[in-house]
Amino acid sequence: MTRKDFLKNIGVGAAFVLTVPCLHSCSGDDDGDGPDTGVTPSAGDQNFTVDLDDTANAALLASGGFIISNRVVVARTVDDQFVAASQICSHEGTDQVVYDELADQWFCRTHAARFAVTTGTPENNVTDRPLRLYTVTQNGNTLIVNG
Ligand code: FES
Repeated sequence: MTRKDFLKNIGVGAAFVLTVPCLHSCSGDDDGDGPDTGVTPSAGDQNFTVDLDDTANAALLASGGFIISNRVVVARTVDDQFVAASQICSHEGTDQVVYDELADQWFCRTHAARFAVTTGTPENNVTDRPLRLYTVTQNGNTLIVNG
């Protein structure tokens, strides 16, 4: 059987089954550092307030606690500073960023990227793109998040 006969015999269906997964897995970037879009994934511009008297935000009453609102992680650091960062990771854009109080860093649960809490600078070699941060100002029992 020639190669041409073989390909004719397996048909288009088999070719589709064999090639689609390869095309999918072979597309995208090759550096293992996420899509090379040139744009740092983020939650986008967000301006909102957080009411510290609301029981839904009770995690912020203790050092090391955090909440997620509007795809932004708002945390109270171990030093009692209110900080905020995009829930959307700068590595591959998943929404798995949280505040890790033990390390006092932003941490992405997807591939374990770590970012400095006050600058968003990558702290390990998972990505070289910084995490988007937001400003947080406190007015009484209200946090104002801007970014
Ligand atoms: S998406 Fe890979 S570490 Fe966040």
